[in-house]
Amino acid sequence: MRKKVIAGNWKMNMLPNDAINFIEKLSILTKDTQNEVIICAPYTDLFYALLMAQKTHIKIGAQNMHFEKKGAYTGEISGEMLKAIGVEYVIIGHSERRQYFAETDETVNKKVKAAYEVGLKPIVCVGETLEQREQGKAEQIITDQTEKALEGLSKQQVETIIIAYEPIWAIGTGKTATAEDAENSIKAIRKKIAEQYGNDVAQKVIIQYGGSVKAENSKELFDMPDIDGGLVGGASLIADEFAEIVNYKG
Ligand code: 13P
Repeated sequence: MRKKVIAGNWKMNMLPNDAINFIEKLSILTKDTQNEVIICAPYTDLFYALLMAQKTHIKIGAQNMHFEKKGAYTGEISGEMLKAIGVEYVIIGHSERRQYFAETDETVNKKVKAAYEVGLKPIVCVGETLEQREQGKAEQIITDQTEKALEGLSKQQVETIIIAYEPIWAIGTGKTATAEDAENSIKAIRKKIAEQYGNDVAQKVIIQYGGSVKAENSKELFDMPDIDGGLVGGASLIADEFAEIVNYKG
């Protein structure tokens, strides 16, 4: 039985003081949850977030990393750097990075491999545009992105990965995929993983839904058998609302 994993992606929001106060509040509000909870904070908050999350059930992730360990890459942060301060998770290939920062399936794959090399757990984002969905290509796009992101990984690595299915048209728009549509897309991703790595592996992979997840729609989404939790943007900035999402009970 897979557990539900609920991650907040703060994107480019929250100053260190906000992060400190938020994590303290969230840890109290969600202290009894059975679900896993991750906060993916901006780089400048990570150290404070890690200090606050110590001795709580909250895990900390970053939102991106470079695929090289070190070198002349001005302004970049490596997986080794994140691991060294205690970060556990890292979002890779978020659609905003694919769209605005030239992230490709190839760099996503390099980053996923680099994350495993240093012991970080990747949260890999895949998702189709509205145009692709309307053309009936959604399933092809998301299964291709998944296949390319996982290329060259061992079965042991694949079974510990988190995939976030985030349809681009649902991100920050207030438009959520219906629970049935999200379930079908996630099923297609799991089927693709099963074809390549076997059903045993595919059944272990956590596949989240992301895109306008709110307190009011999260239960319906998380009740779906293949939706293993969510990657939450806007609603993860409000402690009370995010806590309600995290405190999901099946
Ligand atoms: P919203 O929840 O704000 O739509 O963002 C989703 C997202 O991009 C999470 O990574």
